[in-house]
Amino acid sequence: MEHLKVAAQLLQEGSIVAFPTETVYGLGADARNTTAVEAVFAAKGRPSDNPLIVHIADRKQLDAFTEQVNDLSNKLMDTFWPGPLTLILPLKEQTLSEKVTAGLDTVGVRMPDHPVALKLIAAADCPIAAPSANRSGRPSPTTASHVQEDLMGRIAGIVDGGPTGVGVESTVVQAHHDGTVTILRPGGITAEQLGEVAAKVQLDPGLAIDSGSAASIPAPRSPGMKYTHYAPKGELCVVQGSPNAVSAYVNGALEEAAQRGERTAVLAFSEHLHLYRADAVYSLGSLDRLAEGAHRLYAALRSCDEIGASVLYAEACPRNGLGDAIMNRLLKAAGHRIIHIAE
Ligand code: TXA
Ligand code: MG
Repeated sequence: MEHLKVAAQLLQEGSIVAFPTETVYGLGADARNTTAVEAVFAAKGRPSDNPLIVHIADRKQLDAFTEQVNDLSNKLMDTFWPGPLTLILPLKEQTLSEKVTAGLDTVGVRMPDHPVALKLIAAADCPIAAPSANRSGRPSPTTASHVQEDLMGRIAGIVDGGPTGVGVESTVVQAHHDGTVTILRPGGITAEQLGEVAAKVQLDPGLAIDSGSAASIPAPRSPGMKYTHYAPKGELCVVQGSPNAVSAYVNGALEEAAQRGERTAVLAFSEHLHLYRADAVYSLGSLDRLAEGAHRLYAALRSCDEIGASVLYAEACPRNGLGDAIMNRLLKAAGHRIIHIAE
C-alpha cells in the first residue's frame, strides 16, 4: 500500500508513473497538467496528434471534464465498467490539458478493472491520462519488466501488479443517440458483447485496412510502412488458410529464410504447433479460447525480438469474439502484410 501512496504522490506532483490495468500497463499522468502529459508523449516517443485515454476510478469524476453524456453511453458504462471499454465523450472546455485530446472536442474515457489501477487513481484524486506504457512502435507491455525494457530511465516509477489479464487494449467506441455504437478500435470488449446493449454495432470505416477487406498485400514489403504500430524488430507476415496449407507455405518460406541465415519464428495456435519448423514456435493458446491468444500476443512478439528473429510468420484466426482484436493487432504488427492461401 505504501508504494501506491508514493506513486499517487508522484502523479500529483506532475511526474509520470507506469501502472497495471486489466488490459496492458499504462503510463499515467495527471490529465489536467500539460507538462506531465507532454512528458508522457516524450517518454514514449509518441506523435502528439494521437489523443490519450483518460482513466477514472469513480463515475463521479466524469462531471469535471465531460458534458451531455447520452443515454447509450451511460448504459454502456453501467454494463461494462469497470472494464476494457473506452467511450468517446463530449469534452467540457478548459478542464483537461489540450495535449490529452490533441485539440479535439471529445475525450476517450475508461474505468479500468484492476484493483491497483483503481486504488492509484483514487489516491491521486485526479483524472489520469494513460497510453500503453511502451515506446511508440513496440508491442504494448503486459508485464512490469516489459515497461522496464522500454522506458527505464525515462519515467519516475513503475507500480508492479504482475502480468495483465486481457492482454490487448480496451475497445474504443463512440455511442450515438440513435442507439448505434461505432467501434473505433477493437479490444477487450467484443462486438458481440456490445450488441447485447446497443441496437446496432458498426465498425468505423477507418478499420477496413485492419480487417483485411482493403486490398491485401501479396508479398512482404519493406518495414516502416505508414500503418505499422506494434512492430516487432523482424519482418512479420500473417498467413490465412487451412492449417495444412498454411504450414506447408510457411515451412517452405522459413526453410529459404534459414538458408539465407535468417533467424525464424512462428506464432501459431496450440492445435497446430507441431506442424511448424522454425527456430522458435510461440503458442497463442487454443483456437477455442481466443482469450488465451489475446493474453499472450504481445509477450510472444517481444520474445521474437529477444531471440533476434528476423523472419516471422503468424497464423490468422477467426474474427469472432476476441479474434477481431487479435487480428487487428497482428495486422498492425505485420504492417498489413497478409497472405491468403487458397486450397
Ligand atoms: O487498454 C487501454 O486502452 C490502454 C490502457 C493503458 O488503459 N490504453 C491505451 O491507450 O491503449 P492509447 O493511448 O495507447 O490508445 C488510445 C486510443 C488511440 O487509438 C486513440 O486514437 C484513441 O484511443 N482515442 C483517444 N481519444 C480519442 C478521441 N477523443 N477520439 C477518437 N479516438 C480517441
Ligand atoms: Mg498504445
